[in-house]
Amino acid sequence: MAKLIFEHSGEEVELADGESLMEICEEQGVPFACTEGVCGTCVIEVTEGMENLSPFTQEERDFLGESDRERLACQCKIRGGCVKVTF
Ligand code: FES
Repeated sequence: MAKLIFEHSGEEVELADGESLMEICEEQGVPFACTEGVCGTCVIEVTEGMENLSPFTQEERDFLGESDRERLACQCKIRGGCVKVTF
């Protein structure tokens, strides 16, 4: 199991290893539009545990550039462990 923590609310959610962040982020209020890594509305900031997320997709690189704190929630999956985010 993996854990996603929303820093601003203190909410902690358990996820299966390999699960997408999209559904749970949507429940927490992150806005989504394209869900394909193009529009950028779903940007989240990762404050801890970036190494526990899946590698950046090409879409994320195209949108975020070299940012190493931001991810597109529609594109990344949690690999395991604990990840802390804010948005
Ligand atoms: S919803 Fe458009 S980039 Fe994630």
